[in-house]
Amino acid sequence: MTIRPARRAEIDAIARLDREVFAQSFPAFSLRQFHDLDPELLLVAEDDGRLAGHALGALGRDGEGWVLVVALAAEARGKGLGRALLAAICAALERAGARRIRATVAPGNAASRAMLAATGFEPLAEEKDYFGPGEDRLVMARPGGRG
Ligand SMILES: CC(C)(COP(=O)(O)OP(=O)(O)OC[C@H]1O[C@@H](n2cnc3c(N)ncnc32)[C@H](O)[C@@H]1OP(=O)(O)O)[C@@H](O)C(=O)NCCC(=O)NCCS
Repeated sequence: MTIRPARRAEIDAIARLDREVFAQSFPAFSLRQFHDLDPELLLVAEDDGRLAGHALGALGRDGEGWVLVVALAAEARGKGLGRALLAAICAALERAGARRIRATVAPGNAASRAMLAATGFEPLAEEKDYFGPGEDRLVMARPGGRG
């Protein structure tokens, strides 16, 4: 299994994977725009030549790095790959200049919360209806020097 920056030619496949995983997903053109902004912040996990998952990060103001997506194909879950992708996107954000890292998650997403907690993220704030009516978000942050 390899984790590496996505190639532009892979973006349609990443968007397809996103559509399978999320009720609301980024269209391919948005992923292309993120990739144009910083290709090091769109990572793929490749397993035996197949796209197993991806992670997307973005750098905000004042050195705030955001983990926007960590997503795996159903058959790739539960083997530590989510944790590895999360560590890789956090490292890429730090290389890009992030001093703190935040991640955003649906409060009821047990798998994602467990993955983030296992990597040192703690709940910071909840925002009602962020993803749409009845779709709240929880912001989780890594504490300490970089938190
Ligand atoms: C969230 C996701 C990326 C986790 O990836 P994964 O490879 O299955 O997770 P890992 O195997 O790396 O496990 C990481 C930790 O989370 C825990 N975990 C994983 N799935 C879990 C589940 N369904 N329920 C509870 N805990 C879970 C693991 O036990 C592990 O903790 P540990 O290291 O202390 O044992 C994956 O489930 C996924 O793609 N989900 C759909 C997309 C999504 O919700 N993304 C997050 C929001 S952007």
